[in-house]
Amino acid sequence: MKKVCVVGLGYIGLPTAIVAAKAGLQVVGIDINEEAISCINRCCPIIKEPEIVEHLKEVLDTKHFYATTVYEEADFFIIAVPTPFKEEKKADLAYVFSAATAISGVLKKGDTVILESTVPVGTTKILAHFLASKTGLKVGDDFFVAHCPERVLPGNIFKELKVNDRIIGGIDRGSTHHVAQFYNYFVSGDLYLTTAETAEMAKLVENSYRDVNIAFAHQVASMAKTAGIDPYELIDLANKHPRVNILKPTCGVGGHCIAVDPWFLVETFPQETELLKAARLVNDARPLDVVATIKTKIAHWKDTRGVKQCKLLLLGLTYKADVDDLRESPALSIARALLKESGIELLVCEPNVTKQFLPVDFVNRAVSLADGLSQADVIVGLVAHTPFKTIEKQLIAHKKFIDFCGLLHVSHKQSSTKEQFFSAVRSDDDFIKQSMQDILPFGHQRLEKEGNP
Ligand SMILES: NC(=O)c1ccc[n+]([C@@H]2O[C@H](COP(=O)([O-])OP(=O)(O)OC[C@H]3O[C@@H](n4cnc5c(N)ncnc54)[C@H](O)[C@@H]3O)[C@@H](O)[C@H]2O)c1
Repeated sequence: MKKVCVVGLGYIGLPTAIVAAKAGLQVVGIDINEEAISCINRCCPIIKEPEIVEHLKEVLDTKHFYATTVYEEADFFIIAVPTPFKEEKKADLAYVFSAATAISGVLKKGDTVILESTVPVGTTKILAHFLASKTGLKVGDDFFVAHCPERVLPGNIFKELKVNDRIIGGIDRGSTHHVAQFYNYFVSGDLYLTTAETAEMAKLVENSYRDVNIAFAHQVASMAKTAGIDPYELIDLANKHPRVNILKPTCGVGGHCIAVDPWFLVETFPQETELLKAARLVNDARPLDVVATIKTKIAHWKDTRGVKQCKLLLLGLTYKADVDDLRESPALSIARALLKESGIELLVCEPNVTKQFLPVDFVNRAVSLADGLSQADVIVGLVAHTPFKTIEKQLIAHKKFIDFCGLLHVSHKQSSTKEQFFSAVRSDDDFIKQSMQDILPFGHQRLEKEGNP
């Protein structure tokens, strides 16, 4: 039976180790975090992902998998350690090379090393030469190295690890084919074989594409705000064009990937990445814009009521919907900025993170959805978690609701009459209501002309 060492048991490494073990491989999971190792071996992993406990239990029970801090000999090594950026937005590859140093202590003839961590173009080749220099083994003859980027969607990882197509880029043909054989053990999607550099760049281009499209949605939202238009309705209508598909604006871009990976391209191609840099800056500025909007609306809310204090409930703190991951979360940075504001009593509702894993400054502010909705004067939608989508309208009917993730938006059905049109326009927001009054004469003229030719 082939033996696999998965190095780095986080959001990518642990599910990958489990899926490989379920496919019949003998898998050892390695991490430097002793607490994480102990939790995994007791079947209570610290990361949250649907079905992870059941799958982990199965592979622990069959003894196809265990976790340890000690590197062991194996046929395949998968590196899935973090690749954040440093202060100056340059890739921090220290975790990758620290893992590689440890692997070099057990690497032997015939072994294969797969880099799954997202890295700047050229890193896999440098890694291969680094391993060769440490071991005296010859790359391509004695051992094989390839990059195989990961594309899974947190929340659906166990399915996507199997069904997603994979790109496999070896540093030579032999490496590519060795690694393709490995993924054949558990991937039912197509395997596309290419060079290491193309595989590295494909991953970075995919995430930069997402980042640029999100930045476009955020700029549309900013323009809509200035024009007093509901951005979600605007985008919904623009998307009725058969070849337009604008994304939904959110409160910003976070997580470990989309907010980070474009900088790896900027680092390597400083002259050819103007659009990517601009998109990064737009998306990084979005939380600041959200904070400014919330402060303005709360000041207005207080003025109209003649009060000095406002109880504010924030819905969602994670970096995106239906995950427990707070890393680089724009919602969390918004919450932190509001924490410092006088005259705001802050409450947060984050159903995916238990109090134990919340940052300390929010532990005493965490409330259940029902408690938060009943206590708050103003509610802000930051992350579109599933439980928030079914909030009963009567629970928030007399509250001010500010929506930065499309929670309140109901998609347009075909509107043929003036009445249907105006009932479809959300008017729960004072700012939009006021602005709609300003544009009503124009709206009437257009509709009457079109409706009564
Ligand atoms: N999370 C995602 O959705 C996702 C998707 C695609 C690609 N990626 C990429 O995959 C890589 C891993 O991401 P992640 O989200 O799983 O990170 P993570 O932080 O959840 O997990 C990484 C793990 O590696 C461990 N680690 C660090 N250095 C180590 C070492 N020298 N030896 C052993 N273990 C070590 C850490 O303790 C941690 O448990 C990153 O490059 C990321 O960009 C992540």
